[in-house]
Amino acid sequence: MTSVVTRPSSSYERLPADVRSVLSDRLQGATSVTDKDNAIPAPPRASTKPNPQRRSQPSKPKTTAPRQTPHRHVVVALQNVSKSYPKGNRALIDVNLQMHKGDFLFITGASGAGKSTLLKLLYGQEHPTSGDVMIEGTPIGQLRGNQLAKVRRRIGIVFQDYKLIPRRTVAENVAFVLWAQGYSRKEIHRRLWPTLKMVGLQDKSESFPNELSGGEQQRVSIARAVVGTPPLLLADEPTGNLDPENALQVIKILKKLNSIGITVVVTTHNEQLVRVSNHPVVQLKEGHLRQLRQ
Ligand SMILES: Nc1ncnc2c1ncn2[C@@H]1O[C@H](COP(=O)(O)OP(=O)(O)O)[C@@H](O)[C@H]1O
Ligand SMILES: [Mg+2]
Repeated sequence: MTSVVTRPSSSYERLPADVRSVLSDRLQGATSVTDKDNAIPAPPRASTKPNPQRRSQPSKPKTTAPRQTPHRHVVVALQNVSKSYPKGNRALIDVNLQMHKGDFLFITGASGAGKSTLLKLLYGQEHPTSGDVMIEGTPIGQLRGNQLAKVRRRIGIVFQDYKLIPRRTVAENVAFVLWAQGYSRKEIHRRLWPTLKMVGLQDKSESFPNELSGGEQQRVSIARAVVGTPPLLLADEPTGNLDPENALQVIKILKKLNSIGITVVVTTHNEQLVRVSNHPVVQLKEGHLRQLRQ
């Protein structure tokens, strides 16, 4: 239960800076991935078309762990975490948070309250000024380079503005992450189609981002975040650019992912969404975190 306690290539260079920063860690890590298949395959393009034989018998992603286990392990722990930015801004003050496997948590708070900062600490983009940030028992605050990349491969991230690669199709956008991590073509295929199906985009696999609605683009970014079956999914204002209907659809998908065992953290300032959900809610205010609903 949640408790507030206490690849370098020309196409890569054209990616948006934020995507590059996330992927560069994954690319670094890709060179050390040896347990999947030997070689890093060429970037997926035409080969990402569905294989009819496979589609009739889709393999399930490996995220089918039972939700309720007697001793659920701690996935996220923040211990007395404070974060100040160089220009003297105190974004977080002595924040404590613990989440177990299978938890779903909403983090609310006004703009500037520190929601994105908290998530950035969780995936190591920012480091705490003091205190400890632990992901599955690993202190991420002190990690750099390959060690940080290794932990980050266990975290899926969804942003408000999707951050899709404009000149790549839906299938390529999702497959790219696996490619960057060194997965074989076969494994990419095995994971891609069930994931696209899960977000309801199997018929849009060959579309480009500018041919999709905002809701569809956000579903692509969710597919990209979970295709590597991370145990932890962080979504920073995932519904911020969406109309209520699409926002609800995105939350439903996040709930579905949670129901198959993924620990989910969602930041939002959409009170309506939080109200219709029965998940725990915490609020950030003036740097402090407090529990609104258990
Ligand atoms: N890179 C940064 N440098 C300096 N101040 C920052 C930086 N990022 C965020 N802040 C400040 O930290 C506070 C929290 O920001 P943020 O975490 O983005 O809030 P939220 O996501 O809740 O809108 C704000 O006052 C913001 O101006
Ligand atoms: Mg933010």
